[in-house]
Amino acid sequence: MIMKPNTIEPSHLLAALNWRRAIKVFDPDKLIPAETWAALEQALVMSASSYGLQPYRFIVVQDKKIRQQLLPHAWDQRQVVDASHLVIFAARTDVTEQEIDDYIQLIARVRGVSPDSLRNYREMMRDSLLADDFKPVARHWAARQAYIALGNLLTSAALLGVDACPMEGFVPAGFDSVLGLTEQGLTAVVMCALGYRSAADEYSKAAKVRFPASVLVKHV
Ligand SMILES: Cc1cc2nc3c(=O)[nH]c(=O)nc-3n(C[C@H](O)[C@H](O)[C@H](O)COP(=O)(O)O)c2cc1C
Repeated sequence: MIMKPNTIEPSHLLAALNWRRAIKVFDPDKLIPAETWAALEQALVMSASSYGLQPYRFIVVQDKKIRQQLLPHAWDQRQVVDASHLVIFAARTDVTEQEIDDYIQLIARVRGVSPDSLRNYREMMRDSLLADDFKPVARHWAARQAYIALGNLLTSAALLGVDACPMEGFVPAGFDSVLGLTEQGLTAVVMCALGYRSAADEYSKAAKVRFPASVLVKHV
């Protein structure tokens, strides 16, 4: 049985979320330690997704030469080259029969059940995800799943004291070309720079701007 982990205090969670800022200026000399990064990668891997299908890949770009190539496709936003780590969230451009079958095989292996016992689940996924009217929206569906992983990563990073900047300010076609994503049936949908804020980052010193909960949260 998996033990329920120790919980943290609500105040601890809120302090981390309030500390989190979309960092504009990273300290290029500060690197995320390997153990911390490994945990953040696992936060990506352990994200929830519809059907559990995980219709995405996370491209971690540490090669500075590749980052330099990405920079002009990202409005020259310095986070792309200065952050310790850069993750590109690449969503599947369509859902394939193979992907569903691979996933069924994985469940069977991990849970020690026969693939045949998962027949209904497989059919349910095939009926909805391989349907003709789903084809045009498949990539948007996959992108939404990738964004859940982004949220998971942001919160996890904040709890570990790692700075991040979620970024949509880039040209997907440019990223797809530099990273060779199209031929893998993938497209870049969002990215996240991670590392540590520079003392020169003015934005992180400003107050966080949010509409009050009374506006954003409706109790009915
Ligand atoms: C999906 C998404 C895309 C964003 N794209 C960029 C970006 O390209 N460049 C940037 O500097 N900030 C970007 N941001 C950061 C937002 O501007 C920032 O989250 C927002 O102003 C709220 O500030 P906070 O995250 O510091 O609380 C993005 C945020 C999200 C969630």
